[in-house]
Amino acid sequence: MRQFVCYNAFMTIKEYIKTRKEELKTEIALMKVKPNFVIVQLNEDDASNAYVRGKLKDAAELGINAKLIKLDISTSEAELLKLIDKLNNDKAVDGFIVQMPLPKQINEETIKLAISPDKDVDGFHPLSKLNPCTPQGIMNYLKHEGVEFLGKNAVVIGRSNIVGKPMAKLLLKESCNVTVLHSKTSFEDMYRYLENADIVVVAVGRKFLIDDKFKFKPSAILVDVGINRDENGLHGDILPERPVKFQTPVPGGVGLLTRLALMENVLKIKRP
Ligand code: GUN
Repeated sequence: MRQFVCYNAFMTIKEYIKTRKEELKTEIALMKVKPNFVIVQLNEDDASNAYVRGKLKDAAELGINAKLIKLDISTSEAELLKLIDKLNNDKAVDGFIVQMPLPKQINEETIKLAISPDKDVDGFHPLSKLNPCTPQGIMNYLKHEGVEFLGKNAVVIGRSNIVGKPMAKLLLKESCNVTVLHSKTSFEDMYRYLENADIVVVAVGRKFLIDDKFKFKPSAILVDVGINRDENGLHGDILPERPVKFQTPVPGGVGLLTRLALMENVLKIKRP
């Protein structure tokens, strides 16, 4: 497998995950009552099955009780809302998620808003105290590696509610100068912003959108949220091996950080 570029002392994401999991395992082992986490799944696509398998595996490894509730793909919105209401009121359940995407008869926004903010470990509800797992996982890792944020130029490409916007918010909270670019930004502008960026987060979903035409500071940190599947495997939104200080790999990068942040969110709800 191709190695990703790492010119400095950054701990690789795999090493970081291993270290952090050991810490969480120790913490959970000391809990008299283990956290209870539920996944509701209606879809049957391969990507969702793989995500759900990964989340169940992580939970088992850490000692979190996890249960999968599988519903038929033809389940109505009313039936799903009834189950959500039951889980919201079940004292034995600390946190739960409804795996997205949902079948077309169900409105995703309605479902995100129906999950109690107190149990919303995805961090999707506007009143949730927790952040969405992808931006939270990225920040946890960058902070662990001692990345400096204050006064740095951070560029986020993508403005989704679950990655781009909360990512920008978290970077702003750390006093970065944040610019959010998106699908309507011209390449000319993208080249210009990225050339001056210290931290770049790309979450667009377009294979190698950021190619070798882009210039970077040698000290730049590139975070690739893209997972684009084609006949040759999985690819990020950024061409690998850009000449920068650090670039997250795809696969084996942000996806793992997201999964870890989900488990950390479950624990945050359980902690007193
Ligand atoms: N589908 C893909 N990613 C996610 C996620 O982070 N949470 C949920 N609920 N569904 C997803």
